[in-house]
Amino acid sequence: MESLSESPSKQEIELLPYGEKYHPYHNKYVDFWRQSLADPMRFWDERARELVWYRTWDRVLDDSNPPFYRWFVGGETNVNLNALDRWMNTHVANKVAYYWEGEDGTTRVLSYRDLFREVNKFARALQDLGVKPNDTVTIYLPMIPELPISMLAVTRIGGIHSVVFSGFSPSALADRIVDAKSRVLITADGYWRKGKVVELKKNADEGVRLAEERGAKVDKVIVVRRLGNQVAWNEGRDVWYHELVSKYPENTYVKPVPRKADDVLFILYTSGTTGKPKGIMHSVGGYMVYVYNVFKWNWDIRPEDVHWTMADVGWITGHTYIVYGPLLNGATEVMYEGAIDYPQPDRPWQIVERYGVTIFYTSPTALRMLRQYGDEWVKKHDLSTLRILGTVGEPINPDVWKWYFEVVGRGKCPIVDTWWMTETGAAMIAPAPGISLVQLKPGSATFPMPGIEADVLDESGKPTPPGVKGYLVIKRPWPGMLLGVWGDPERYVKTYWSRFPGYFYPGDYAVKDEEGYFWLLGRADEVLKVAGHRIGTAELEDTLIKHPAVAEAAVIGVPDPIKGEVPVAAVVLKAGYRPSEDLKKELIDMIRTNIGPIATPQAILFVSKLPKTRSGKIMRRLLKDIMEGRPLGDTTTLEDPTAVDELKRAWDEFK
Ligand code: WT7
Repeated sequence: MESLSESPSKQEIELLPYGEKYHPYHNKYVDFWRQSLADPMRFWDERARELVWYRTWDRVLDDSNPPFYRWFVGGETNVNLNALDRWMNTHVANKVAYYWEGEDGTTRVLSYRDLFREVNKFARALQDLGVKPNDTVTIYLPMIPELPISMLAVTRIGGIHSVVFSGFSPSALADRIVDAKSRVLITADGYWRKGKVVELKKNADEGVRLAEERGAKVDKVIVVRRLGNQVAWNEGRDVWYHELVSKYPENTYVKPVPRKADDVLFILYTSGTTGKPKGIMHSVGGYMVYVYNVFKWNWDIRPEDVHWTMADVGWITGHTYIVYGPLLNGATEVMYEGAIDYPQPDRPWQIVERYGVTIFYTSPTALRMLRQYGDEWVKKHDLSTLRILGTVGEPINPDVWKWYFEVVGRGKCPIVDTWWMTETGAAMIAPAPGISLVQLKPGSATFPMPGIEADVLDESGKPTPPGVKGYLVIKRPWPGMLLGVWGDPERYVKTYWSRFPGYFYPGDYAVKDEEGYFWLLGRADEVLKVAGHRIGTAELEDTLIKHPAVAEAAVIGVPDPIKGEVPVAAVVLKAGYRPSEDLKKELIDMIRTNIGPIATPQAILFVSKLPKTRSGKIMRRLLKDIMEGRPLGDTTTLEDPTAVDELKRAWDEFK
């Protein structure tokens, strides 16, 4: 930030109340952003030098084989060096790394030194179990400290972690184990969710059984004891985490294995437009540099801050903003295990008050839910420590934004609305109070981050005029970008780099206003955001048609006041099958066991045919129009117009 010029505001902007307290004009930010783009190689070179490397890079960016861009080539490092080791002889060593709170009220506090010890012991244990550099280790853990500990232990020894959200079903776990070819799984006996025990070990056992049926071989299952509930035990395969690590002395030290900057740090599966989830690969060097910097920029992080990302580490938000971002910055993070409204709707505010949270980051879905319970729950608590609020995962409704600003933030905290995705590593379009806060507008994620060039294009690839909706693109590579799709380079090229050649295509609609602010408008493809979770409609359809009674299925997203969007399925049965409540239940159960409860459809509509074009393509647009109560557009290409009436009837009946 040294190079930031102190130029005064060049244009006067009419002020909104938001952000005024922090900065009256945004040119300081825009100047910084412009400078970052004027000489990006120098910019990223300087940013990367703030971190510790075994060997510095030969080139900042190798763009000789687009779109397989490689950052900091020739550089060698290990993320542990920067997240843990470098703090050990500083005051950060005794600082709190994690305040952890279980849903049942149990608490644990881990300092950076505690974390360092645990990670080293577990890293050695993993080595002794035979885990080698570039091996993938699947982690299926709830929100407990052993989750970040496992991620760091794996990366410390040069392994690649693949974290699977603990709410995913055994079948989804199995697919991910098979695809990643993991021979080691780390899981737990169970965890609390809404006051009930979730028997995770049972799901893990079933997941491993299915994975082996699908061709995988799992040698070791390491089990963390979280609850002490009864679990089945597979002698020879299963090992208790606590028994494993207690064999090693407290001062165990494993040298972080040098990794090439463009090696894979981790894989994280996410949904796309086909039925098969894709393993997004992030890099050792680029991801580290980007996340370290963006975390600073988004949160203006200071030594005394207590940062809380109220999300699950099983998603990218948690990887970046609960694990790597905070630790790379030596920040204190809060980690909470359970449901956000358990036992009462003020659980988050109680936690903010208890730990003196200064920066709070959550999703629009969570905010809509918390708002619905009424302001009393918020006002019961002293939230005066809060200074910055953040949001991510879906577009935030301006009225929810204002509620967040006024009721939670007492009109004093800027709202950092961060647009990004699994593939981008960290925020891409968001306010950056760590550089200079721009004037905020409720519902806009404001401007691209330093080093990021974004635009909005029409169908033909031309920039849209201000106020006109189009497709968001990122116009140049950035360090936090994905390395590719695990085992599927073609899918990487096709999904992200083919729609608008030369540009990264995220799959979102967006609009830029007269002042250049970006407004993100949701997915432009067959991907849903249900309560902020990314779910491919094709995954649901593929699951539904596995049922012997189902001939065809089409899934679309329908707006929901809390979850943003929910899946609705239109199903055509095979001859000889009749619609029934039981069948509906079976289909819903299938989704829950194949994907997980988060994908549960709100409705299953039985119809005799789907609206299709004469060439046989399902007209999803029409399905959406019907369910959102819009007048139907051109239906002349429909093969059989009666399909529409039937769907309308089925939908009206459901409502
Ligand atoms: C999709 C990516 C990045 C962590 C959580 C989601 C949507 C994300 C915003 C935002 C509007 C947003 C986009 C994107 N999205 N943040 N601030 N405003 N939309 O990661 O599961 O990979 O989903 O989430 O549609 O494409 P993800």
